[in-house]
Amino acid sequence: MLLKTLSVASLCSLFVLIFIGGYVSASGVGLTCPHWPLCPAGLVPTNEFIIEYFHRSVAATTALLVIVTMAFTLRSKSTPSGMKMSSMIASGAAIGQISLGAAVIVERLHATLVTTHLGLGLVMFSMTLITTMYAYKLPREDTKKRIRLPEPK
Ligand code: HEM
Repeated sequence: MLLKTLSVASLCSLFVLIFIGGYVSASGVGLTCPHWPLCPAGLVPTNEFIIEYFHRSVAATTALLVIVTMAFTLRSKSTPSGMKMSSMIASGAAIGQISLGAAVIVERLHATLVTTHLGLGLVMFSMTLITTMYAYKLPREDTKKRIRLPEPK
């Protein structure tokens, strides 16, 4: 249940983040927050860079969710190796995206970096989707208990 909740939360958060990223790019507000990692007013959001601030905050939340999902996936004995692998790739992509996001700012929206940022975002989304699909295939805890054989007398 926990893995289902965590993976779905990661997927939904990532879906919203990709929309916000697309909006940041299409509306040309990518450099309204020209510093890294914080915006000019620190942790305080102001109107001049609210969309970019929102993109970074949702990115931090999403990365945390993806990494926590990986931690629980690796800890569980009942998760298949494919699920472990997809959650590790998704977490690697999350860390890559945050570093790439910094490079996008430092390099003033270099086209190659922005395109790679979009591509890695899609890799992250596919891997999170695969992790979620695996989570829904895991046997339910109560089913596992029900089929447990009685102890020999
Ligand atoms: C999990 C992390 C992240 C994901 C999945 C993500 C995803 C995206 C996507 C899909 C876009 C649209 C790209 C396009 O339309 O070509 C975008 C744009 C952008 N992202 Fe991220 N992002 C993440 C983290 C960050 C971080 C931490 C920063 C830090 C500054 C950042 C900075 C930007 C900027 C500046 C743009 C706009 C580029 C432009 O104006 O063309 N992103 N992001």
